[in-house]
Amino acid sequence: MLAAFKDFKLGTKLNLILVSILISAIAACGIFLSRILETKIEQEVADKAFLMIETMNSVRNYTSSQVKPELADRLASETYFIPETVPAYSAREVFEGLRKQPEYQNFLYKEATLNPTNPRDKADKFETEITLQFRQNRQLKEKTGFRHDGSAKVYYIARPLEIKKASCLECHDTPGKAPANLVSTYGEKHGFGWKMNEIVASQIVSVPASKVYQAAHKLQFLVLSIVGIIFLIAMILINLFLKKSIIQPMKKMAVLSNEISTGDLELQFNHNSKDEIGTLAKSLNRMVQSLKMALQMIDEDDD
Ligand code: HEC
Repeated sequence: MLAAFKDFKLGTKLNLILVSILISAIAACGIFLSRILETKIEQEVADKAFLMIETMNSVRNYTSSQVKPELADRLASETYFIPETVPAYSAREVFEGLRKQPEYQNFLYKEATLNPTNPRDKADKFETEITLQFRQNRQLKEKTGFRHDGSAKVYYIARPLEIKKASCLECHDTPGKAPANLVSTYGEKHGFGWKMNEIVASQIVSVPASKVYQAAHKLQFLVLSIVGIIFLIAMILINLFLKKSIIQPMKKMAVLSNEISTGDLELQFNHNSKDEIGTLAKSLNRMVQSLKMALQMIDEDDD
């Protein structure tokens, strides 16, 4: 390969070097940009997810500290259970309200529960796995990451939901102990048998990332195109320069040298520049001059 490279013309050599620099530059730029964008995307979606999960916790607190006491009497006397008094319900409902806006329809908040009171809270396969991981590793307080939901890529943040208060078991222990209106509203099959300190659910917020990725890929393509175009322009200019300042003068010199070597000693190398090619032209002219003098001397000797 190297031997072949040596045999190429100057222009070919230069262009081979430039093209390999171009390819390496684009590859390096692409990898570097990907890394930066990846971090930036994760930061952006994670920020959103954190804000949402914290807001939902705030809704939960508001429900248990302000709504529930306010409705306690009615809750005790009504035949139907009032779900608005349950933090899990209000958080989900507030989030469903947000999802009505087209911009947020692919966001999701769920208290994904292995054995839920309300079937819409039932954990799917992925959520069940996460909840089981939280159960196995009590040190684990949060899990975040990307996952594919159908064709969409989403970022999720999950936290374990643990039964920390004995009061939770007033409704989630056995149907017998639970308020009658709860059992009549939700049935007695689900949402019972929870234990103290048990992790019953994972609180999960999902934020769609596909759009952010698309925007990032567009940006990456744009930057790489600009780098490519600048490089191509540079290549064209370098080639023009090489042709005009080096290759053409050298070709001319080669033709002239040929003619001089066949005896036409009146010829002159004309190159008006002070660069290396100009110096070479001057030296060649001096050489022709010396050659002429040497030949004259030989002629005179012969006479
Ligand atoms: C007054 C009864 C009551 C009490 C007390 C109660 N819950 Fe619930 N909980 C419910 C009902 C009813 C639902 C279902 C609400 C709905 O329709 O979404 C529910 C739902 C949940 C859910 C969502 C999953 C599911 O089962 O649908 C979680 C998680 C939850 N409760 C945790 C707790 C925790 C933790 C406590 C204690 C801090 C607690 N609950 C106390 C009645 C209660």
